[in-house]
Amino acid sequence: TIVGPHANLDDELGTIIGPEFEIHRHDFPEDFIFGTSVSAYQVEGAKKGSGRGLTTWDEFTHMFPDKVEKGDDGDIGVDFYTRYKDDIKLMKELKTNGFRFSIAWTRIFPYGTIKKGVNMEGVKFYNDLIDELLANGIQPSVTLFHWESPLALEMEYGGFLSERIVEDFREFAKFCFEKFGDRVKNWATFNEPTVYSVAGYSKGKKAPGRCSPWEAPKCPTGDSSMEPYTVAHNQILAHLAAAEEFRKCKKCQEGGGKIGIVLVSHWFEPKDPNSSKDVEAARRSLEFQLGWFLSPLTYGHYPTRMLKDLNIRMPEFTEEESEKLKESLDFVGLNYYGAFFSTPLAHVNSSQLSYGADLSVNWTAEQNHSPHLKSTSMGIVIYPAGLMKLLKHIKDEYMDPEIYIMENGMDEIDDGSKNLTEATNDYGRKEFIKSHILIMGKSIRMDNVRLKGYFVWSLMDNFEWEKGYRIRFGLYYVDFNDNMKRYMRSSGKWLSEFLDSKESLH
Ligand code: NOJ
Repeated sequence: TIVGPHANLDDELGTIIGPEFEIHRHDFPEDFIFGTSVSAYQVEGAKKGSGRGLTTWDEFTHMFPDKVEKGDDGDIGVDFYTRYKDDIKLMKELKTNGFRFSIAWTRIFPYGTIKKGVNMEGVKFYNDLIDELLANGIQPSVTLFHWESPLALEMEYGGFLSERIVEDFREFAKFCFEKFGDRVKNWATFNEPTVYSVAGYSKGKKAPGRCSPWEAPKCPTGDSSMEPYTVAHNQILAHLAAAEEFRKCKKCQEGGGKIGIVLVSHWFEPKDPNSSKDVEAARRSLEFQLGWFLSPLTYGHYPTRMLKDLNIRMPEFTEEESEKLKESLDFVGLNYYGAFFSTPLAHVNSSQLSYGADLSVNWTAEQNHSPHLKSTSMGIVIYPAGLMKLLKHIKDEYMDPEIYIMENGMDEIDDGSKNLTEATNDYGRKEFIKSHILIMGKSIRMDNVRLKGYFVWSLMDNFEWEKGYRIRFGLYYVDFNDNMKRYMRSSGKWLSEFLDSKESLH
């Protein structure tokens, strides 16, 4: 018997799905994309000899190796730069029809701007990659900024701390639209801008490794508590600039070209569902994580709770910016990994809120408060039903946008000591993906959510940022002891069978 405040949670999936529910690949809309997802720095490698300029992640991994587990870096990644053709064969083997990757800004403009030079080898790489994908029936989905800021611009004016980044990003985006927009029809400007702002400028965990005074004892760089908000604001304005260029690009529009952004959101359950404070904390967490970006991009202003609760003055949008922002999204990209349990933490008082760039965390008890739900190796609570709640929340609160799930997947630790059978036998990941696909099917049917695609993070194991290569997400295992050979995991095998309509889900 299950007892306790969250007793219903693990039963929920079964109850929501119901015994009758069954779903096949062909039950999803015809144009629905099933794909895999990666980002440039995490997989490409080819730091040297390819003309790529340096970024904040090159600096972070080499200047502060103690901040990254085992002192790992992305210099070699998983060598996608030279092996992409073989990796596309893996995508085919999985029967996927979409692939999400990012364009490394400094592989195109090594010093951040066009006037300082274009790296034609980089342009050729992405052209070849896109052509090869299309020749294999795989739709490319491109993200323009997946956390790699050009070092030259950081040194010149502080990267996203300065509004100057907006015009430089516009130029980069415009160049990419012109070069690749005839073939790429799905574009996202930013990946997880919340994480970029908070982990990079408040917690100091990710490049460029800056900290707000709230976290200062752990990372005393003496930076200002405004930084995460400034960086967030400039990402929103840069998104707007890129969207403007996209609307002007004729060939990008042809064939149904769309522009969006990729936002991460967990689902937040109140720690105690009977406590109104916890219920309020869960709402707040959602607004600080998702609403921080989705509210401006839908309504042209930051969430009211956020404006009310913060003791500092948030940056403001001009009236013109507000109006334009409302037109700047064709779809919402969502990264969903799981749930957190929210409660107002006792040690956070209202005067400290001004330092709380990472308020969503300050107001959230991250531990798993249900004895019935499992957590992943990174501590994320596995909760597929949360995806359905989140999709409904987005539909109801943000004007029913088109949604692509741009990342969903499960991490496991493997430091390379597992043998091949152990490393490829990932029953947990298979169940994880299966239950999320089921929930998506249910959301489409029951809630009429306008879901257009689902991308698994990730095609193969890769550089998991400050966690290095030990944390693995791949449908393919990468053997770092043997020339980075790729092996399909059982989750990948299952997915290929489902996509091949050999397997129905129920
Ligand atoms: C978020 C990020 O977009 C991606 O780069 C990261 O590897 C995964 N989620 C897993 O943490």
